Amino acid sequence: MPWWRDAVLYQIYVRSFADADGDGIGDLLGIVAKLDHLAWLGVDAIWLSPIHPSPDQDWGYDVADYYGVHPELGKPGDVERLISEAGRRGIRVLLDLVPNHTSDRHPWFVDAKSSRSAQRRDWYVWADGRPDGSPPNNWRSSFGGPAWSFDDATGQWYLHHFLSSQPDLNWWSPAVRESFDAILRHWFDRGVAGMRIDVCNMIVKDRELRDNPPATDDDPAFLRMLGQRQLYDSGRPELHDVLRRWRRIADGYSPLRLLLGETYVFDLAALASFYGSGDELSLAFNMPFVFAPLEAGALGAVVAETEKRLGAEHWPVWTLSNHDVSRFPTRWCEGDGRKVRCALLLLLGLRGTPVLYYGDEIGMPDTPIPFAELRDPVGKRFWPAATGRDPCRTPMQWDATAGAGFTTPDAEPWLRLGDYRAFNVAAQREDSASVLRFCRDLIALRRAHHDLAHGDSTALDCPPGVLAWHRGRRFVIALNLTDFAATVGGVHGQIRLGTDRERDGRPTGATLSLRPWEGVLVETRS
Ligand code: GLC
Repeated sequence: MPWWRDAVLYQIYVRSFADADGDGIGDLLGIVAKLDHLAWLGVDAIWLSPIHPSPDQDWGYDVADYYGVHPELGKPGDVERLISEAGRRGIRVLLDLVPNHTSDRHPWFVDAKSSRSAQRRDWYVWADGRPDGSPPNNWRSSFGGPAWSFDDATGQWYLHHFLSSQPDLNWWSPAVRESFDAILRHWFDRGVAGMRIDVCNMIVKDRELRDNPPATDDDPAFLRMLGQRQLYDSGRPELHDVLRRWRRIADGYSPLRLLLGETYVFDLAALASFYGSGDELSLAFNMPFVFAPLEAGALGAVVAETEKRLGAEHWPVWTLSNHDVSRFPTRWCEGDGRKVRCALLLLLGLRGTPVLYYGDEIGMPDTPIPFAELRDPVGKRFWPAATGRDPCRTPMQWDATAGAGFTTPDAEPWLRLGDYRAFNVAAQREDSASVLRFCRDLIALRRAHHDLAHGDSTALDCPPGVLAWHRGRRFVIALNLTDFAATVGGVHGQIRLGTDRERDGRPTGATLSLRPWEGVLVETRS
């Protein structure tokens, strides 16, 4: 059985996790210094946001060298050091692969742009404009505006689904495919345990560059915002050839290497397709779950549909927060600690691999960032209608000292600190009723009980607003996501962990009663 099936993954936004050299920017050696925290928490693997040299137009998601290490984040040998130090604590390291696009300063694009006959011209997507001088087709960039920019020097347009400084690679090119095979092997050979794959659903585009049809009122908000359905630039059938190719490489290693795709699709049947017949992605991120409200009906429906579409063959992956969305304590919980604990119980109690985002374990909320301090290009472009992604990327809050234990007291953090006096690791470690201790105890229970890591999941009949499910033969998880007391019938046993810690170890009684926004993990009497 692949190692990730019973693993707890943890996403680290490297610039914001821990700063070892006092320049206000998190780095690889900072992560090394915090491995004991991650081991104490019970994390099995960490996924690092891109660590490579980058002009940081999109904070590392514009890669200028897939083999190097960004000088602000460390020295080349630091990756090996991190892998070995993490390995000593039983923690694996995943990197972030960005195959859809490179930086415009990557030597490949510098060459491609140099002339129409450049050796690597066809490594990117170039096309002539329409006779009226407009771009080759109607595709839109996820960051706003057309997905095409005109290159004066060579008189053609190039494709970019994000910033114009992030040109899309042409995945029809065999040379591009071979280059990424080599990149994967390079890092896997060095002990990297797998890759999170950026924009995984978009890498191969329609060869004929056909126009997308308009969005309709029934489409998800993201497509309505774009104004079109991504029929020809996302989820193309030929994409699966690339995923199978990568999977063959990943499966050639022991232990198996994990391919964890960022699959930005809202149709769960489409999501299931990225698993292929067990020969494509190992895990595909579930965006409908992230964007559902914290309501039993909506979440229960996403979970049930995911289980149905993935079946017994494929393994789900769940996440509450990441570096692109508002943190769940803000987005879902309005800072209410009861809701934060319920959400963590949901994440860690579902059948599938949970991924924590750094700070989730202390219930860290978003940090508002004033316009003058924005770093995210999306925030700058859409301000004030949207605040962008800086609020969910602020430094980890380790303690209540100046610098929050993230950086030295006199350093200027690259992004301002949040309310580290109210939310920090050091204080919560000492407090047995804290979110951190709740999260850690939950992870420990998953480790101790095979049923909680691997067991089947079967939904229980519940009153409206309550979500409850069996895990394996012996456990039930029940969450009351309402402002009213509720009862769940047919659950007898001992509460092993409750969002209200006073109930830990208590019997349920004849029926399980739950207070508003209360969740419990029950070991049933069988
Ligand atoms: C993905 C990343 C996001 C980035 C974008 C472009 O969605 O998660 O942070 O901006 O791809 O690379």
